[in-house]
Amino acid sequence: MTNVSTASASHQQCASCGRQYPDTDASPRCASCGGLLDVVHAPPAARGAELRTLFAGRRREGSSGVWRYREMVLPNAGTHIVSHPEGNTPLLARDRVSSYAGVPGLLLKHEGHNPTGSFKDRGMTVGVTQARRIGARAVACASTGNTSASLAAYAAQAGIPALVFVPAGQVALGKLAQSLAYGARTLLVKGDFDACLSLVQQASERLGIYLLNSINPFRVEGQKTIVLEALEQLDWDAPDWLVLPAGNLGNTAAFGKALRQAHELGLIARVPRLAAIQADGAAPFASSFRDGFATRPKVKAETVATAIKIGDPASFDRAVEAIRYTSGVVTSVSDAEILDAKAVVDASGVGCEPASAASVVGVRRLVKEGVIRSSDRVVAVLTGHVLKDPGALLRYHQELDPPPQFANPPVEIEPTIEAVERVLIA
Ligand code: F0G
Repeated sequence: MTNVSTASASHQQCASCGRQYPDTDASPRCASCGGLLDVVHAPPAARGAELRTLFAGRRREGSSGVWRYREMVLPNAGTHIVSHPEGNTPLLARDRVSSYAGVPGLLLKHEGHNPTGSFKDRGMTVGVTQARRIGARAVACASTGNTSASLAAYAAQAGIPALVFVPAGQVALGKLAQSLAYGARTLLVKGDFDACLSLVQQASERLGIYLLNSINPFRVEGQKTIVLEALEQLDWDAPDWLVLPAGNLGNTAAFGKALRQAHELGLIARVPRLAAIQADGAAPFASSFRDGFATRPKVKAETVATAIKIGDPASFDRAVEAIRYTSGVVTSVSDAEILDAKAVVDASGVGCEPASAASVVGVRRLVKEGVIRSSDRVVAVLTGHVLKDPGALLRYHQELDPPPQFANPPVEIEPTIEAVERVLIA
């Protein structure tokens, strides 16, 4: 095993064979066995209450919701940081959503409040900072839409050319619009997300472009801060459950890593359980969970929640570790359930994109199954903004055959007061 000098605060380590690499190595995978890499930081000087105080001080100063945890994210970032800033997203309580889910103590961590409207900004500020640290000439990702929107924005800020691979005809309108607007070279690939991911890895290898999918371990470091920030908002009094939608499984992996480190550093006294929620038509992780993770199925993904329309998740093994470490669960929900839950979240005035609503309806399902108790304290993560997918939203409210449960269809009228009255009286 190669041992890297400990002069640097961080290094990379292969999750499969343990081989170590400098933190400035640009390869997305282990050169020896092809495994995924993990970023390992020297333990911070402070722990427990002292570390909590350090973080709280930066929060009062209005620091980025990612970089105020820099000891746990990328201590060596120095002057390279590319920050919008991001994070500092709200933790919301809404009666309507709580009663729909069946948990009065439900809180919604709304990551749609990030600068490009999804949690991806937390990973991307770190990924693009790392790209700048290593002098990357160009950056690339495959995406179901949010990663590409975020990459495009942060690369534009850093002045680094960005190349994105998205499945043609399968990306929500708001997301595709963002990638074009922020100036990324956008390739509409005639294939699914899994094909895009394979293609971008080949392109990155052949053309020397820095890969910024969530297999990039620096992205994971940034996404850990969703959990750190939610815990801090709860005064480090951990909830019983953290619930999130799951697709490529980078976020599930990041949540597990964050919880492990928060516990080891004495930030929290006990570890909440994770619940990862997939869509029925894109649920290889949920079916693997049912057989105790003995198998690793691949599926041809199909779901209205295009963000999580993924059949062969890249961070599978890391996510298994996260579920095992937290005594977590994995389940899946139908498209109809996702859309109804989204309509409830939207009508509460909060709003989210379809994939995000999987976490809310996942809570509802797990309460019905007796896995989550209605007295539990639960944080469900809303991963993306309501305006990301206006297409799915308008189809739901305008569907007539039959109208969905929570539809709020618009009414076209003649420009007369009588027509207005007729609508209001009807
Ligand atoms: N929710 C939203 C809104 C997403 O965009 C994604 C992933 C997820 C949940 C699932 O997170 O993949 O880490 O399990 N979107 C990726 C993308 C795949 O390309 O934007 P995951």
